[in-house]
Amino acid sequence: MRVLSGIQPSGNLHIGNYFGMMKRMIEYQADHELFCFIVNFHALTSTFDAERLRRQTYDAICDFLALGLDPEKSVFWVQSDVPEVTEATWYLSNITGMGLLERCHSYKDKLAKGIPASHGLFSYPVLMAADILLYGADRVPVGKDQKQHVEVARDIAIRFNNTYGQIFTIPEADIDTNLATIPGLDGQKMSKSYGNTIEIFIDEASLKQKIMSIKTDSTPVNEPKPIEGNVLFDLYSLFLDEAGREALKDRFLTPGLKYGELKKELFGVIWEYFEPYRAKRQQIASQPDYIRQVMQAGAEKARAVATQYLEKMRHLVGTDYLRK
Ligand code: ADP
Ligand code: TRP
Repeated sequence: MRVLSGIQPSGNLHIGNYFGMMKRMIEYQADHELFCFIVNFHALTSTFDAERLRRQTYDAICDFLALGLDPEKSVFWVQSDVPEVTEATWYLSNITGMGLLERCHSYKDKLAKGIPASHGLFSYPVLMAADILLYGADRVPVGKDQKQHVEVARDIAIRFNNTYGQIFTIPEADIDTNLATIPGLDGQKMSKSYGNTIEIFIDEASLKQKIMSIKTDSTPVNEPKPIEGNVLFDLYSLFLDEAGREALKDRFLTPGLKYGELKKELFGVIWEYFEPYRAKRQQIASQPDYIRQVMQAGAEKARAVATQYLEKMRHLVGTDYLRK
């Protein structure tokens, strides 16, 4: 079973990314064939500052490695180090109907957020389909918001297979159904582009300040607190097991709970949770030669798989005109 997913280096990675995708990816490497990459081509749809893109790509690599992604056990690379994916995107583009892309919510959401409407942003799901198909992925762990994009990749794969020949595996989205979209500080989806994130690697004072700013309702202290749609409850729950979550529920339902105190407690829990990874991250980030070596090796492994598919694609579409 081949598991593949990517993440955009479009800002500092946050706990929505961690619980929605990164943690599950890292767990998969123990008993699956894992392909994990930093999708810097995709980030170009919203990042127009080269220095920033370079820095964020480097940071995302360090985050993954510090959190436990093992480049020996998995294939870990940066998307642009295997540029063949853009050629595959073109082949796929020509069998992708406009209607399929016009239906994508993510495009409309991004325009609403102020990201400029561009051809790149519109055709983003085709590049993502190439990312998935070129590596023969069976399963794609993503947060709920990416479900539609994986469905688009499936549609494109089926269309290509039917038009030219059966070469692509039909991928499946792998969404943790117990995990709703993780809310940000303001209650909207936690997202780099909403400025409502809790970064995984953040200094202590900033973390405290962020947690204290979590939006809460004005239920009086001596009344039970609502659980449904309560951002503080949802964020705290991420760090608890089933029993812990039940106990937290009881605390919410018992009059007397003070949101301010619970926020201080949550700050402590988050700080401690990521404690073991912080030192490791610092150590990794200070070794650019090691990072270079790891990423080159990762790209080689990824390219070996991608070129096999790409050669078949070239043959099926007919761009290999010298081949007999
Ligand atoms: P962002 O919205 O911050 O730019 P991305 O779109 O780069 O995040 O998402 C990277 C991965 O993290 C995707 O698999 C996505 O589904 C997941 N993810 C992002 N934000 C959340 C969230 N708030 N809750 C759950 N998963 C999320
Ligand atoms: N579109 C995904 C996101 O914004 C990132 C992505 C690009 C991806 N290519 C992928 C995810 C391939 C899974 C598989 O989160």
